[in-house]
Amino acid sequence: MDDPVYVGLNPVGASVFIPGVGNKGIIVTHVDISKFLAYDATCTYDPDAAWGRVVIDASGISAVDTVCGSEYSLMLNGMVTKGPSGLPLIEYVADYNANLNSLHIHN
Ligand code: FES
Repeated sequence: MDDPVYVGLNPVGASVFIPGVGNKGIIVTHVDISKFLAYDATCTYDPDAAWGRVVIDASGISAVDTVCGSEYSLMLNGMVTKGPSGLPLIEYVADYNANLNSLHIHN
């Protein structure tokens, strides 16, 4: 968590995108003091599409696929907040260790 990539995650309600991991990158969201959620950035509406990927919107707490328009809540386990998608984002397990200030993301 001391890695510069994660500095943006400090405030509750902040999200960061980590490219090159998972299927189409991973989004990590700081949802509560010592709770983080992690999602694959793949849009679940049409995951095999060339784009088919969500980006963090300006609010920091929603992820949007600008091609199909699907929106997901990053605070609520990737729940769909706007269609056409009917499935939540794929979630990873995010184990935060407050003593070590470390975050372990895995399947
Ligand atoms: S998955 Fe094709 S654009 Fe959302």
